[in-house]
Amino acid sequence: MPFDISQSFRSNAPAPATAWKAFPTYNFVGGNIDGDTVPAGPLADAVSAALKAEGNTLATYGMTSGPQGYLPFREAIANMLQRRTQMATTPDQVLVTSGSLQAMDLVNALFLEPGDIVIVEQACYGGALTRIRGMGADYVGVELDDDGMIPAKLEAALGACKAAGQRVKYLYLIPTVQNPTASVMSVERRREILSIAKARDLAIFEDDCYADLIFEGGRPPAFRALDEDGQSTTNADIAHAARRQLPLGGDRERGGHKGYGLGTMVEILCAVLTGAWADGVDDEGRPKHTDYDVGHFFFAIDPSLVRADGEFEDDMDRMMDMLRATPPADPSKPVMVAGDPEVRETEERTRLGIPVADMLIEETRAVAEECGAEFLLA
Ligand SMILES: Cc1ncc(COP(=O)(O)O)c(C=O)c1O
Repeated sequence: MPFDISQSFRSNAPAPATAWKAFPTYNFVGGNIDGDTVPAGPLADAVSAALKAEGNTLATYGMTSGPQGYLPFREAIANMLQRRTQMATTPDQVLVTSGSLQAMDLVNALFLEPGDIVIVEQACYGGALTRIRGMGADYVGVELDDDGMIPAKLEAALGACKAAGQRVKYLYLIPTVQNPTASVMSVERRREILSIAKARDLAIFEDDCYADLIFEGGRPPAFRALDEDGQSTTNADIAHAARRQLPLGGDRERGGHKGYGLGTMVEILCAVLTGAWADGVDDEGRPKHTDYDVGHFFFAIDPSLVRADGEFEDDMDRMMDMLRATPPADPSKPVMVAGDPEVRETEERTRLGIPVADMLIEETRAVAEECGAEFLLA
């Protein structure tokens, strides 16, 4: 009796693949490059150097930086995305996968149920399509012109799906060097598509597979870099990268403690110096003495003019202690009061010298390249 395991397959399992025979004459399924251009030698050298330097980390599946992948690699990717796509990205927002198809599988597992729809470009990467169908979902192709997906046709497709009672889960786009048309979507078109998607809370999956293949001029910013909703962020890296802002209480790398210092100064002048500052907050985080609300600003050069001897200093110490005891958003980064980061930094720099941020090095490198100048800051 034959051993039949197919009865245990899930009900919407994809049909078995047909045996591969040969590539068709014109094959647009995947992006293939000229074999002679593969830098096999340098690749082998790089792998060899990495194995020699860090091969022992394979013993723990390279998990020393956690499940999102090797941290220096994620840092390099975040820097690269920042520079090339203008997407404000931090290493903790990067997940290293085994190729883009694994990333697609993860996204699909989050979004798709049988019967769902993904909107794709009418001519599109075959791998993405089989992954969508593999989930029991389906796709609807939207017509393209030289600038990529046509917004009016997208609106029409979304309307038709709605009328048919179909749930559209996300928009899959290859806007920069599209596969197979190689078109590069303009910023204006990106904004149009983005506003259509936003009006419907529709996610955009931007496949940037070939975006580095632009030979002349820069590439347009990624969709995610265009999101200018003014949505607040507690991430100082993002705020700085997107808007060059140094947010209040930002991280040390960005010098954001400047804002925190100013905030503390206001507290000192308005509350501590005037004696209005009391015992801080209760267990719920509410001010203990709401009747001490301060409506005036005092500036005093000599604290003893307004406080009894030593009171100001004592209260200052207590206020600093309370600020330091504030639960940090990120437990690995303790809350510091104005002056703390500078003290630490002075100590560290005295010991190790002055560090230069990776991003600054990369930006300098890009400027040096542009000017044809030799880059010495390696
Ligand atoms: C648009 C697009 N995305 C992704 C891929 C596959 O990328 P990876 O090799 O990283 O899985 C291809 C390959 O042809 C592609 O054309």
